Amino acid sequence: MDRFRILGPSRLAGSVEASGAKNASLPAMAASLLSDEPLVLGRVPRVRDITTMGRLLEHLGVSRAHEDGRLVLTPRDNGNPDEAPYELVKTMRASVLVLGPLLARRGHARVSLPGGCAIGVRPIDQHLAGLEALGAEVSLEHGYVEVRARHLLGGRFRFAMPTVTGTENLMMAASLARGTTVLDNCAREPEIVDLARLLNGMGASIEGAGDERMVIEGRERLHGAEHRIIADRIEGGTYLIGATMTRGDVTLLGAEAADLAPLLHRLAENGADIEISPDRIRVRGPSEIRPRDLQTAPHPGFPTDLQAQYMALMTQAQGVSEISETVFENRFQHAPELMRMGADIRVDGGRAQIHGPNPLSGAQVMATDLRASACLVLAGVAARGETEVLRIYHLDRGYEGMELKLQKLGAHVERLR
Ligand code: EPU
Repeated sequence: MDRFRILGPSRLAGSVEASGAKNASLPAMAASLLSDEPLVLGRVPRVRDITTMGRLLEHLGVSRAHEDGRLVLTPRDNGNPDEAPYELVKTMRASVLVLGPLLARRGHARVSLPGGCAIGVRPIDQHLAGLEALGAEVSLEHGYVEVRARHLLGGRFRFAMPTVTGTENLMMAASLARGTTVLDNCAREPEIVDLARLLNGMGASIEGAGDERMVIEGRERLHGAEHRIIADRIEGGTYLIGATMTRGDVTLLGAEAADLAPLLHRLAENGADIEISPDRIRVRGPSEIRPRDLQTAPHPGFPTDLQAQYMALMTQAQGVSEISETVFENRFQHAPELMRMGADIRVDGGRAQIHGPNPLSGAQVMATDLRASACLVLAGVAARGETEVLRIYHLDRGYEGMELKLQKLGAHVERLR
């Protein structure tokens, strides 16, 4: 199993290009199931979740090719399975994103239930209730969810909580339903807005993406399109946290500052110097990092996907800070690993109190999920001595060439196979 060996401490300095957003690419790829014409996607990151989604789509009858750095997805003729098997879903929960498109286009889908994962229980009840509101019949059997509808009909649905992939599934299904669909309490993440742009480019009619209410006029058919995926705000944000943490000076290229606003606002409060110009964000770390409390929340709140990395930063702040995780119920697994590196963290349910600053010292640590891995890598860069981050396959699910990007910024990181 691959692992990272990091020799620290290093100060991150230089410029780094943001990759395309994994969490925008995954629904965009699933949207290829909605038409019979090719979909051309630019800036899709080369990470493992994208390969997994590619394999799932291949299984469902969509072939893929790389042309001039773009991903071309071409649906083949009918007669393909409508089923997402357990082997694929268990490695990537986002496989559930094929549910809406398959149902809308083929009238039927069977998708393995994802089950819990390292960060929480993560049910999909809202995806299913939403599809039911559009007239689907839903049944659960043998660990699979099966949805059917001869014709989806526009309807009204209010999500019990904003769910990102749930909103995306409903947007895709409603785009091919007969009539108008009104969705309330939608997720408002930039990835939702990007998906709406793509679907509208395919001929859909979606209004209100980025707001709580979306109105979708169903279309009889959608066509192919070309689309450039937005920058990955979580990947980019990880390097900007690293810059703050190591008192470094990092310029992130190709990123959208508005999408990163909740983080940039916070880093400024921590004392970082932030310069925003079109297409680039420069962050210079302060000599003394000010502690700030944090509560994760759906967009436009502070993203849960940056909580672990922010906790690494708070271990270096001058004083006590408290982090509350409100989106997932079990997303502090990085805390004990940070403590093995010398951090002083007290976890109590969904709250963690971090007593800084404590010098970190290199250790062998274990990654438990994608963002926890990124947190441990940042800690390793800031720590004195040698850190080994094991189970880097979690990181490879969502960070494109992280060791190369960190090397370019001056860190001593190597991948051991
Ligand atoms: N929830 C339900 N019922 C549902 C759907 C969600 O109870 O039917 C709950 C979840 O259990 C969770 C909360 O609602 O407590 C929000 O979950 P959400 O559905 O928004 O998460 P998701 O769509 O499964 C996406 C990202 C995650 C990111 C979350 C929150 C993708 C492919 N995944 O997951 O990304 O953490 O939104 O922003 O977009 C990551 O990239 O590391 C990652 C985990």
